[in-house]
Amino acid sequence: MTILSPTHDAAEAVEQHIVIRPFDGPLGAEVIGLDLSLPLSDADFARIHRAHLDHHVLVFREQRITPAQQVAFSKRFGPLQIHVLHQFGLAGYPEVLVVSNIIENGKPIGLGDAGHFWHSDLSYKEKPSLGSMLHAQELPSTGGDTLFANQHRAWETLPAHLKNAVEGRFAEHTYLAKYAELQKRSPWRPNLTPEQIAQVKPVVHPIVRTHPETGRQALFVSEHFTTRIVDMPEDESRALLDEIFAHSVRPEFVYRHVWRDHDMVFWDNRSVMHLAAGTPDDQRRKLYRTTIEGDAPF
Ligand code: SIN
Repeated sequence: MTILSPTHDAAEAVEQHIVIRPFDGPLGAEVIGLDLSLPLSDADFARIHRAHLDHHVLVFREQRITPAQQVAFSKRFGPLQIHVLHQFGLAGYPEVLVVSNIIENGKPIGLGDAGHFWHSDLSYKEKPSLGSMLHAQELPSTGGDTLFANQHRAWETLPAHLKNAVEGRFAEHTYLAKYAELQKRSPWRPNLTPEQIAQVKPVVHPIVRTHPETGRQALFVSEHFTTRIVDMPEDESRALLDEIFAHSVRPEFVYRHVWRDHDMVFWDNRSVMHLAAGTPDDQRRKLYRTTIEGDAPF
């Protein structure tokens, strides 16, 4: 008779045969051969971690995972963040933000206009997101793509006069920057309570940040959340930010993700910005998002 040792567990992680296939473009790779519904070994975790740093956006196809499995995988990278619009948290999973344009019984089931402007997730927090995972639940037959722009390349190719103008400077980020504008055009922006407003006080971050794990520099300002450059006259700051925003999303820095059923996409908010391209009004789209807390930018 075989007596199993107490450490022998059917859920014990076994190594999977992972292949990382980089995209032919400015960023991104597909992770082939990994089933995220299985326990992840430390060696496989290390490969995914490395690939995430190297390619900035990872695409895992055909992931039949539950919200609990998405949360567990996300937590391997750090503590999770709860979105200020907690009313769009998935029931029973406050760390999962429902990103969806679906209206049920006259009420939105999720945040339908998340990503309407280019941004890096939660840059309006003292500790913005390290990375985010988006898992497709229901996809439109047309539209609904997500675009990612490589902010290392954006910084490296920024014209010298712009580099000189922003190097060493700081900019303000606030969640409220575009809130009123979004509220006017969509049903997904409820009035914020005083408690919610208190959670999103403006913060200041360096315009050029150093990636804490790779040491690479990247632009860290966005159309959605950055309002002004600190210690600069308003008109000068506005003009400079507009030039930088235009440069930071030039087509040669952008990967466009066309979603397939059960895709899971994991991006590095310290290296990329992203944008939801939009979904036609007559199409349904639903994804689950988790965000992992990162470091204070430096
Ligand atoms: C987001 O900004 O996290 C949402 C992106 C998307 O819906 O494509």
